[in-house]
Amino acid sequence: MEKHVSIAIDGPSGAGKSSLARRCAAAFGFLYADTGAIYRTVALAAKRSGVDPKDSEAVSALLPGLEIRMGYNAAGEQRMYLGGEDVSEAIRMPEISLGASDVSAQPAVRQFLLEMQRSLARENSVIMDGRDIGTVVLPDADLKIFLTASAEARAERRLKELRGRNVETDFESVLEDIRYRDRQDTEREIAPLRRAEDAVLLDTTELDFDESFAALSQIVLEKLCMDDGGEPA
Ligand code: DC
Repeated sequence: MEKHVSIAIDGPSGAGKSSLARRCAAAFGFLYADTGAIYRTVALAAKRSGVDPKDSEAVSALLPGLEIRMGYNAAGEQRMYLGGEDVSEAIRMPEISLGASDVSAQPAVRQFLLEMQRSLARENSVIMDGRDIGTVVLPDADLKIFLTASAEARAERRLKELRGRNVETDFESVLEDIRYRDRQDTEREIAPLRRAEDAVLLDTTELDFDESFAALSQIVLEKLCMDDGGEPA
């Protein structure tokens, strides 16, 4: 069986995981898997069914009827489908971010999505980002990275991104959302956000995107070269 390489990137909301992991995957020829998008799709499904994302019983009852699929378009971009509809843009709204954090604290939701994530890594070389990839989803990942930045730096970046998409908001509400999600994601009982013992820490508070990408690439290159029996780059 062909050996696939897996790289797990975990960290809090807005640390730049998605954009960095996407670029890194393109540079190294890996598939990029954004697992937050899957939780967001469950949150969107709950919203559309009029279900409170915090109501674990109602959310659990929804799960068996959900047809959630992750796919890739011709350009290699990840798309999320809910009942056959492409919801990749709809899941990016701020209220869905909060709902995703709510549903992701529920054991039934995490269990429901676990195999989808693992099978992707079995069948492809992946860079997968999320909150529990190195600790729960892929505990045997070849490389684990914990990517973080201060809450203020993350809020600043998220604000820029939302404004770029014409979403009306301000720094304080973005920072408040980030703090709410940090608290909920790290304090939940099941699969909380935490750095795996064997994860490399990358703090991007003082780094811009290109600097962060250079630092991440260096870590990936060192790992891949060492596994090749070569000298680290
Ligand atoms: O990465 P994101 O902001 O798109 O993730 C949305 C929410 O989903 C986040 O608040 C926590 C949750 N999540 C999770 O619990 N586990 C993952 N592997 C990925 C995301």
